[in-house]
Amino acid sequence: MDILTLLQPDDWHAHLRDGDSLKRTVPDLAKQFHRAICMPNLVPPVKTVEEAVAYRERIMQHVPEGIDFDPRMVLYFTDHTPSDEIKKIKDSSVVNAIKLYPAGATTNSDNGVSDIRKVYHVIEQLEEHQVPLLLHGEVTHSHVDIFDREKRFLDEVLTPLLRQFPQLKLVLEHITTADAAHFVLEQGRQVAATITPQHLLFNRNDMLVGGIKPHFYCLPILKRQSHQTTLLEVATSGNPKFFLGTDSAPHAQSKKENACGCAGCYSAPYAIELYAQAFDQMGKLDKLEGFASHFGADFYGLERNSKTITLVRKEQTIAERLTYFPNDDIIPLFAGQTINWSLQ
Ligand code: NCD
Ligand code: ZN
Repeated sequence: MDILTLLQPDDWHAHLRDGDSLKRTVPDLAKQFHRAICMPNLVPPVKTVEEAVAYRERIMQHVPEGIDFDPRMVLYFTDHTPSDEIKKIKDSSVVNAIKLYPAGATTNSDNGVSDIRKVYHVIEQLEEHQVPLLLHGEVTHSHVDIFDREKRFLDEVLTPLLRQFPQLKLVLEHITTADAAHFVLEQGRQVAATITPQHLLFNRNDMLVGGIKPHFYCLPILKRQSHQTTLLEVATSGNPKFFLGTDSAPHAQSKKENACGCAGCYSAPYAIELYAQAFDQMGKLDKLEGFASHFGADFYGLERNSKTITLVRKEQTIAERLTYFPNDDIIPLFAGQTINWSLQ
């Protein structure tokens, strides 16, 4: 298979940021994806439907002429999210979900939820209205090893949560372990997961062997190869519980190459080609369209896209750097490396 035509894909987990960042991030994403879930971890976070509508308008100002891009918005769950905001999400035509960051888990999560049991009264509304809860699935206790944080979240937070709310619709975002993949497989159809290109293509050796490579550092952190293998298996299995979410998360070069470097990989400009590379390695290109273009829309109860994109088996070298701010570039995921697929 050298030419692959797919229904246009959607990205169910992306960070576009705000202000000047949008000049870079919006065109990069919109050239391949029709829709993207735009994560709300801005400073300050996007906490109400009203703020999400305003953020969407700022994003739309950067969509290049002639491109049809439909940002899907998400609210940021805090300890103080009022229960009645959930009905507003249900009634909104632009907001599709709410994202829960355990406080302190990742970039801009200080306003996240300090203890999930404190917000069970709001989660009750999510279950009632069938509004998806998107989860950053890591515990944050300082004594828990960073490589065990996802597994501990499954046992200590997610299992009790689903026992309490068996009909809750939820997406475990950017899963990184075999434990999370198996957990999702064991649940009903209302529980799904997104998988990033970096967790399919790389493992912690890529980040740590032969020198520390900050551009592979994201959260949840890359795990050992056996986890990568399981993620590849489930992503390419054709199971609709697993779908595309890049977690493309831009940080300027100076913030990544730093004594205290930020977490996040910037994959937006090459995302669909990176996924094609991973599916091709597994001999499963025929499963890419379901993962990239069908299952996420079906989960969110949105129409599948109608246009198509075409990928060709043609080598391309990922840029060494991309312009971001006037004096600070951004280094994309897998910078300077050659991949086998190009977007036509
Ligand atoms: C994300 C970011 O930079 O906003 N970083 C990351 O490493 N994935 C936040 C997140 O999704 O955890
Ligand atoms: Zn993210």
